[in-house]
Amino acid sequence: MAVLVTGGAGYIGSHTVLSLLMRGDEVVVLDNLSNASRESLRRVEQLTGKTATFIEGDILDRAVLQAVFAQHPIQSVIHFAGLKAVGESTRKPLEYYQNNVTGTLVLLEEMRAAGVKQFIFSSSATVYGANAPVPYVETTEIGGTTSPYGTSKLMVELILRDYAAADADFSAIALRYFNPVGAHDSGEIGEDPNGIPNNLLPYIAQVAVGRLPALGIFGDDYPTQDGTGVRDYIHVMDLAEGHLKALDKLPAIQGYKAYNLGAGEGYSVLEMLKAFELASGKPVPYEIKPRRAGDLAAFWADASLAEKELNWRVSRGLSEMMADTWRWQQKNPQGFAQ
Ligand code: NAD
Ligand code: UFG
Repeated sequence: MAVLVTGGAGYIGSHTVLSLLMRGDEVVVLDNLSNASRESLRRVEQLTGKTATFIEGDILDRAVLQAVFAQHPIQSVIHFAGLKAVGESTRKPLEYYQNNVTGTLVLLEEMRAAGVKQFIFSSSATVYGANAPVPYVETTEIGGTTSPYGTSKLMVELILRDYAAADADFSAIALRYFNPVGAHDSGEIGEDPNGIPNNLLPYIAQVAVGRLPALGIFGDDYPTQDGTGVRDYIHVMDLAEGHLKALDKLPAIQGYKAYNLGAGEGYSVLEMLKAFELASGKPVPYEIKPRRAGDLAAFWADASLAEKELNWRVSRGLSEMMADTWRWQQKNPQGFAQ
């Protein structure tokens, strides 16, 4: 039996495909390469000595999905494919709802037609909205999202809840990621954003490698330890391993369940910057800028449910996140485009 990984050529997807292949799972990847390079999976194959079947195609394309389900013995789906830039989603809401919500609906319908009933969804801490108490815990009602991106994740979670309630054979796990960072420790695969990075760690790494002049820190007057924003950063390999644990749990799940995947600890922007400088030996110049619209001061996960029910917790700390980010960036200053 095989696992279908949508968006498997992307950042989190490629690390998860690597973990799946390493343990011997059969993997089929469907990705339209809108935000990824074919090179990521070539490197995964070199690292593992194993091959994932790659299909270039769109989750909105029913014919492609029908062919995938007809030609491969798919038992479960890990669904990473989607658009993920919060700022861009406010400018292109229809594209975000089309890809993230309609795309998921089409995928679920074609799964149903093919009798595939196990589903893992890439959700996000953003579904807790702006007013949830910190640390975020799964018993808090989700909602109050502040961007079309966040609302698209919320909508899919509600769709999964309702579908699972209607079909006793369907089981779904929504994994609510906190802030994924880092890279595989080989430095061969990692995060390769298009254009100027939106996220903190890729930005810092590109300053360190000389592609950008200085980091802009979005606000130093938040009510946090040093005034800069606090987040729960999680190493992408820990995150990848969380998907394997969730996959193993799916047959025992009745209906729909959501789990936070985070470290359970928050670090400020300045703490991240200092940790990166320590790991890389490179000074990272910065300037304080105004707050970024939509940013929250501080949030982190209560990750105890995933520990209890999935037997999963992070095993990599800040220094590994930084060392691995730096190794990837140094080996691949231009990302996958050499
Ligand atoms: P990514 O952009 O690297 O990966 C997404 C992949 O999906 C890309 O390879 C892209 O080419 C593909 N894709 C996009 N639309 C598609 C479509 N319609 N059909 C087929 N393929 C399509 O992003 P990532 O960081 O690896 O994120 C993976 C998932 O995790 C996304 O759903 C994202 O929203 C979610 N997530 C990411 C973060 C984060 O900070 N990286 C945080 C929370 C949740
Ligand atoms: N930051 C800067 N300068 C930058 C980039 C970020 O100071 O150039 C700060 C932000 O203000 C924030 C922190 O660094 O305090 C982290 O910002 P990121 O953009 O890296 O991450 P976010 O917490 O804003 O968002 C990320 C993902 C979202 C996801 C969310 C919660 O981008 O998709 O985590 O999971 F929804």
